Amino acid sequence: MKELTSESLRDLYLKFFASKGHSIIPSASLIPENDPTVLFTTAGMHPLVPYLLGEKHPAGTRLTDVQKCVRTGDIDEVGDSSHCTFFEMLGNWSLGDYFKDEMIPWSFEFLTSPEYLGIPVEDIAVTVFAGDADCPRDEESAAKWIACGILPENVYFLPKSGNWWGPAGTTGPCGPDTEMHIIRNKEAARLLNSDQFDDAPKGTFLEIWNDVFMQYNKNEAGKYEPLRQRNVDTGMGLERTLCILNGKASVYETDIFAKAIAKIEELTSKTYGESEEVTKAFRVVLDHTRTATFMLGDQKGIVPSNTDQGYILRRIIRRAVRFGRNIGLPQGALTEISKTFIEKYKDVYPELVRNAAKIAEELTKEEDKFSKTLQQGIKEFEKVAESLPTGGVIDGVTTFHLYDTYGFPVEITKEMAAEKGLTVDVAGYERAFCEHQQKSRAGSEQKFACGLADHKEETTRLHTATHLLHAALKKLISADIEQKGSNITEERLRFDFNFSRKLTPAEVKAVEDCINAVIAQNIPVVMEEMTLEEAKEKHFTGLFESKYGERVKTYSIGDFSREICGGPHAESTGELGKFKIAKQENVSAGVKRIKAVLMHD
Ligand code: ALA
Repeated sequence: MKELTSESLRDLYLKFFASKGHSIIPSASLIPENDPTVLFTTAGMHPLVPYLLGEKHPAGTRLTDVQKCVRTGDIDEVGDSSHCTFFEMLGNWSLGDYFKDEMIPWSFEFLTSPEYLGIPVEDIAVTVFAGDADCPRDEESAAKWIACGILPENVYFLPKSGNWWGPAGTTGPCGPDTEMHIIRNKEAARLLNSDQFDDAPKGTFLEIWNDVFMQYNKNEAGKYEPLRQRNVDTGMGLERTLCILNGKASVYETDIFAKAIAKIEELTSKTYGESEEVTKAFRVVLDHTRTATFMLGDQKGIVPSNTDQGYILRRIIRRAVRFGRNIGLPQGALTEISKTFIEKYKDVYPELVRNAAKIAEELTKEEDKFSKTLQQGIKEFEKVAESLPTGGVIDGVTTFHLYDTYGFPVEITKEMAAEKGLTVDVAGYERAFCEHQQKSRAGSEQKFACGLADHKEETTRLHTATHLLHAALKKLISADIEQKGSNITEERLRFDFNFSRKLTPAEVKAVEDCINAVIAQNIPVVMEEMTLEEAKEKHFTGLFESKYGERVKTYSIGDFSREICGGPHAESTGELGKFKIAKQENVSAGVKRIKAVLMHD
């Protein structure tokens, strides 16, 4: 196999698909356009959703690119050998053009041809969709792989959990896929059938590429509707593939991070790999600094703040500063490290060069701000931690104090607590946060739905009414509507959502009637705890990326509404009284606000 660099892998991929009639398009922004369900672009297909749904793309029906992506769901796992918050995805698309007949032989050719990756055929395993009630077993793909030369014993059939991709958010295009893996342990692989694939010893199969045969649109009701056009959507993680094909122990040992590692070594007296702890700190600093560089340098660049994308950026920079301190990284180091990334990526992402001054300025500012309070905050934290027994809980007020006075995002306090065998009362923290916000009236900056901290009966009912309103707007007005903000007082609910205009009087009446009909049916509100994955699988809506921990509370109101939410709620809809929309307001061009009340006889 060839020794590849990030530059040569990008070039080979784009060259191959250009030779198959694809237009090379530039990477879209990291900030998704018109998608309130996720904060960042998470896959190459994400910016192409309108075209996968049928809109005409100006560059044609065959596209290829390298897309910047951010996934922050596994942020706490950054530091191991494979998790990155930023990565590049190589991909190619058929927008209603070619399908399996072309895609599978092309994938085979790219992987095995000496001109491209030159991987021996016997080292490749593929998985295909086993079939279920939504979509038939993909015998066709299996047969095509075997016709190309993949050994029949290296073809595995897996269910939806393994061979289904999408949608990127909660709704959108998706379909069965076929995934390509490098077999690292032939002895172990030989003993496995399809049912045992997932139980293979770690490292037996290493996935490098995914071809999705996008034939469905998952709608709000969680149903898979056939798409008007059949698409192909493929994705190959650049860092991961480099790591696997070059036989490296982790993505951090690829050429991408070499200059940055040298810079950290120069700025500290540490060597990458000298101990587990040092390696983890290096990796957190490397990953987070690279992600922050791309977020700040993006064409729609964001800056650190207390909400949404800006909050994730702030968290990432502060976490990097904290881990950097563990290896003696001096103040200002992140800016120096970020320069190595700008240099490394300058030809592929010229926006980093254009925004270099802004990247340096914002990183320096955020690093300085946090560095000032970090030492003292750690002291304060240590004092609290020492006063608690193992398994103890850091209370909400203390956690809020660490945030408010020392700038510790709650996630950092949680992580530091976990290192000491402690936990954090997150609900208590949210309450303390909200009480503070209400005193200072800094409403627009609030990160939590602060009205929910008030457990009085009427606010509880209004909270349930908020779920009904959310569901009714989605069902009656537009399936794309998502919650953009919520605030509840004892008198009224306030609900912000993405929509371009105010509702017409007829729409207002339809929404009210629909909600009042659900209230009249006296449907029980059912709380269930489950993992985030299960909640996604069961089509609960919610902000999956930023707010929720691994196990989440979900609330369902019959089939009408399903949301991930901390509660509390009314026991059944009959308690709510009569629902009435009191006012509509314009928040911004794309965001509208409804204030509504419950009337009791
Ligand atoms: N969209 C597919 C993925 O991200 C290709 O794996």
